[in-house]
Amino acid sequence: MKNILVIGCAGQIGTELTMELRKLYGDEHVIATDLKNIPPVISERGPSEHLDILDKEKLKQIVNKYSIDGIVNLAAILSAVGEEHPMLAWNVNMNGLINVLEVAREQKVKRVLTPSSIAAFGPETPIDNTPQETVLRPKTMYGITKVAGELLGDYYVAKYGMDIRGLRYPGIISHEAMPGGGTTDYAVEIYYEAIKKGKYTSFVSADTMLPMMYMPDCLRATIQLFTADKAQLKHHADFNLAAMSFTVKEMADSIKKYIPEFEIDYKPDFRQAIADTWPNTIDDSAAREEWGWKPEYNLDKMTQDMLLHIKKKLETVEA
Ligand code: NAD
Ligand code: SER
Repeated sequence: MKNILVIGCAGQIGTELTMELRKLYGDEHVIATDLKNIPPVISERGPSEHLDILDKEKLKQIVNKYSIDGIVNLAAILSAVGEEHPMLAWNVNMNGLINVLEVAREQKVKRVLTPSSIAAFGPETPIDNTPQETVLRPKTMYGITKVAGELLGDYYVAKYGMDIRGLRYPGIISHEAMPGGGTTDYAVEIYYEAIKKGKYTSFVSADTMLPMMYMPDCLRATIQLFTADKAQLKHHADFNLAAMSFTVKEMADSIKKYIPEFEIDYKPDFRQAIADTWPNTIDDSAAREEWGWKPEYNLDKMTQDMLLHIKKKLETVEA
């Protein structure tokens, strides 16, 4: 692949993944697009375009204009916003994805990567060491679109012989762009509030445990799957992916090792019910076997790094 199109480049993952892809393919060969304003750090380094994923004609024009042969589709409405606006989530996550798959098919794009999520699982799924092949009966609109997206990806592989790849990200924790309205947003907010105020009110309970991943691992996993040898892959659009799992209390205890005066309290809201339907831990052996996945970060290593970067960032903003 030579020319890569990123859709949804201005979000939590896109902001960092676009820059990583540019390191790999060259600044001029990664075309960054989003519905909202594209951060200058991205638009000043390489080509960018305004794109609504629901505008199939414009998507096709961009694919042709830049001779795109690989697409990374990050445009989505996440779980919490999706429960507030279910039809928006359906429209962007499903009709947007169909546009990407159809344009890729018509224009003979070599490869598409479109992420799924732990939200594909539901309350009937085994909660510990959730298997690769398991019950997929999510209770959120976001989760429903993620399961349907996985099935669609595999359909385009089977029916048209296309190369569609996807992975079920855990909650992603990072310090560059803020998360975009998911249930796991608390796991980012907690670090900012620990530094700014020394305390945090969590919107899920102390014992809520979810699978999580630090951004450097997320970037490595995504690029590893995107560039993996197709002949090695038995799965396509639905790889389980894991790094670490912890409760909110364990996060708070990790922060207290570096900010001893940190305090936390708990006021669960509607996002608790969403978190309660997602697994504790994930079996990602298919990703390990088929494309060599291995995470590097644990909770304390991530906490140290997050606190360091957010402190620096907030000091720069204040200066
Ligand atoms: P985000 O909400 O931070 O970013 C999504 C981006 O999509 C935003 O920049 C938004 O402007 C853009 N977008 C929304 N509607 C659009 C439209 N109509 N046309 C074009 N762009 C549009 O999300 P993210 O966290 O970066 O997630 C990226 C992908 O990873 C999504 O598929 C998401 O479901 C998946 N994922 C993320 C996490 C996580 O914790 N961040 C976990 C699991 C899965
Ligand atoms: N972080 C995402 C969310 O909470 C999981 O897909 O919606």
